[in-house]
Amino acid sequence: MMHIKRFIFAGLIATIMPMGVLAAGSGFPLDRAPVDFENKASLQRGAQTFMNYCLGCHSADYHRYNRMAIDLDLTEDQVRENLIFTTDASGEPTKVGSLIENNMPNQYAKQVFGVVPPNLALIAKSRGADWLYTYLRTFYLDSSRETVGVNNKVFPDVGMPHVLWELQGWQKPIYEQAADSNGEEHKQFVGFEIVTEGQLSPKEYDKLVGDLVNFLAYLSDPYKLQRERTGMWVLAFLVLLAIFAYILKKEYWRDIH
Ligand code: HEC
Repeated sequence: MMHIKRFIFAGLIATIMPMGVLAAGSGFPLDRAPVDFENKASLQRGAQTFMNYCLGCHSADYHRYNRMAIDLDLTEDQVRENLIFTTDASGEPTKVGSLIENNMPNQYAKQVFGVVPPNLALIAKSRGADWLYTYLRTFYLDSSRETVGVNNKVFPDVGMPHVLWELQGWQKPIYEQAADSNGEEHKQFVGFEIVTEGQLSPKEYDKLVGDLVNFLAYLSDPYKLQRERTGMWVLAFLVLLAIFAYILKKEYWRDIH
């Protein structure tokens, strides 16, 4: 008996451990992202922010615009007019049946940033929505970073500039002197202070990033909506089947009795 208990305990620890390590990452606590695929308005706003502010450098080319149109309750015309800002190889506006690609050549990106900005189609799967939500809200001024001038709380020494600075403004971290359990003094992060105001209030900015992360989460799991709907039909079918099976059983047994 003892053995089994120990075995189950070890199994539990083994499943929980990696989660803890992942969440720890930079050690910075993550804020909860407001992910809700049923909120189409939020997904639409997120798509707009993504196309305007992210697609310049990042691609999402496991996805097509027309598929996104269906999932976000948009017509293909609405997508063409409001969400497609890129051109194809012949210089024509990108077609609605095309993949969501950007126009920046990898070679150029490498020269400018030192790395090619990663494809964001599956980023919400690999990093998690909470990580993204925190990442996009914790860029702060850091004069020691010559190329981008900023740093990030969950991605130390990040190579990406703070592309949403016009909206959020610039912020700097505030530290307080604190003593740890050994009585040693160290600097402790207590929050951010806005140095230059952006176009949005902090609350509005959080909402904008929330919508954007909702969209990124949708990108990495576009079939979730469909899966949930199919699941409901399957359950309804099973319930119906159970009722008929029960009636049938009663019929048969009546003959036997
Ligand atoms: C000016 C170009 C540029 C724009 C615009 C841009 N990024 Fe980036 N981004 C980068 C670069 C370069 C990196 C790689 C950073 C590194 O590895 O240090 C990066 C990295 C990231 C990462 C981390 C990926 C990982 O896990 O390694 C995420 C997430 C991200 N960007 C999201 C966004 C979002 C969302 C937007 C739109 C709001 C955006 N980026 C706009 C250049 C850009």
